[in-house]
Amino acid sequence: MPDSYLWWQKGVVYQIYPRSYQDSNGDGVGDLNGIRQRLDYLQALGVDAIWLSPIYPSPMADFGYDIADYVDIDPVFGTLAEFDALLADIHGRGMKLLLDFVPNHTSEEHAWFKESRQSRTNPKADWYIWKDPAADGGPPNNWLSSFGGSGWQYDDVRKQYYYHAFLKEQPDLNWRNPAVQDAMLDVMRFWLDRGVDGFRIDVIWHLIKDEDFRANPPNPDYDPNTGEQNKLLTTYTTDRPEVHQVIGRMRKLLDEYHERMMVGEIYLPVQKLVTYYGTGGDGVNLPFNFQLITLPWKASVIRNAVDSYEAALPDHGWPNWVLGNHDNHRLQTRIGAEQARVAAMLLLTLRGTPTLYYGDEIGMHDIEVPPELVQDPFEKKQPGKGLGRDPERSPMQWDASTNAGFSTARPWLPLPPDAVQVNVAAQDQNDDSMLTYYRHLLALRRQEPALAVGSYHDFGTPEQVFGYTRSYEGRRLLVLLNFSADTQPVEHGHLLHGQVLLSTLKPRIGIQANGDFTLQPHEGVVILLADR
Ligand code: NOJ
Repeated sequence: MPDSYLWWQKGVVYQIYPRSYQDSNGDGVGDLNGIRQRLDYLQALGVDAIWLSPIYPSPMADFGYDIADYVDIDPVFGTLAEFDALLADIHGRGMKLLLDFVPNHTSEEHAWFKESRQSRTNPKADWYIWKDPAADGGPPNNWLSSFGGSGWQYDDVRKQYYYHAFLKEQPDLNWRNPAVQDAMLDVMRFWLDRGVDGFRIDVIWHLIKDEDFRANPPNPDYDPNTGEQNKLLTTYTTDRPEVHQVIGRMRKLLDEYHERMMVGEIYLPVQKLVTYYGTGGDGVNLPFNFQLITLPWKASVIRNAVDSYEAALPDHGWPNWVLGNHDNHRLQTRIGAEQARVAAMLLLTLRGTPTLYYGDEIGMHDIEVPPELVQDPFEKKQPGKGLGRDPERSPMQWDASTNAGFSTARPWLPLPPDAVQVNVAAQDQNDDSMLTYYRHLLALRRQEPALAVGSYHDFGTPEQVFGYTRSYEGRRLLVLLNFSADTQPVEHGHLLHGQVLLSTLKPRIGIQANGDFTLQPHEGVVILLADR
């Protein structure tokens, strides 16, 4: 792999939702020691970096995205010493670790908020977004919570409202206050000094809100089925121009260290998304690109998305792609088992850093969560709309034993009935399994610099097929992905000669393409093009 690229450009990121990976102490919730026990698995899988969803002390109103102390570990996950041991083991294997940094809001239990809410004059009075009631005593403006309902919560002591973009238990910090910025940079420094390789930054595009608290306009395309949080556009609560200054400060800090990085969580259209790369050295290293999650799964749509994203990237902007995370329904549930293989090939052969979501590599699907077992506050606030995120957060399925080898106790979320068949142990030695397929894909990406860092060119193909080449130092790989359930002949005359290095359908590996190639239903292939 060429040295001129940084680890986070060449590497593959794997997201772990710590509550659900491996429980080592029998309380039904995953923990750091559990993750440590599974590092052999991750190394054999072939990923380069691990991103952990939040592990800090938290009342868990939003399962760790409500942080009560930024510089410690929640007892449910372990201790700082156990964190250090995990980090050392990860580094010992040549892998990297990204932490989830949640700067937009704290928990209401954070000492800063407890102090801030005591009076209008205390030293932290201005650390959160406080505002007097409107003339009628109601909320100061129409801003909504992303989980639904007003974003404002009245506080009896200060006789004011505070703003929360998410739960009322998650008050938003006032990032316009330089003291808040300094304190949060200190938090980053704390973890960087401990040796973490970077951060995934939660809702980074939310950090700054409109100074004048202007009302958000109605959403002309509002569809109530998508949740009441979508009634309004978020014009004045997200993507404010001043956010880039704050990001610039974070980046400056990261760049004081060797090869550290941040990837920002940003749900925005591409033209806006790419502005988060900054102007060169002052933006996030990677603004998460969620198009493969948010767009309809159609060859023509995905192809246009890839081409326009490639065209929109600034010269200094390194691309990235994501297929799943803890906030979206599982890939397999969204597009089905057969297309999930095609999607994995797409993710791992596109230009840019791929992020995998734990369990997708064994084809885990959304679980059914009966109402009495619902955990996610989003589901509790707007039940029955399919907004809940428990289905994609279920325990990792390791083997066919009780609780799928995840825990000796009843897990915090249920396992699906088919965990007995769909698990790591069952797939480990099976040549046709999803896991074996993922291992091959990851190995191929590691073996072929063209796939990791090579140039990208769209390869004109039929409507239902997305094809592209990746080239590096004269070696050219062609990826052909059939998004349909029909066979698809691809003809490309003299350009299509070579050998199949990998197919979603195992028996097809090794066959030759001689001027044309017929893809089987739901087939994806990587062809090494002959030098001619
Ligand atoms: C985005 C996180 O990914 C999500 O899980 C969380 O609920 C919100 N941010 C609030 O922190």
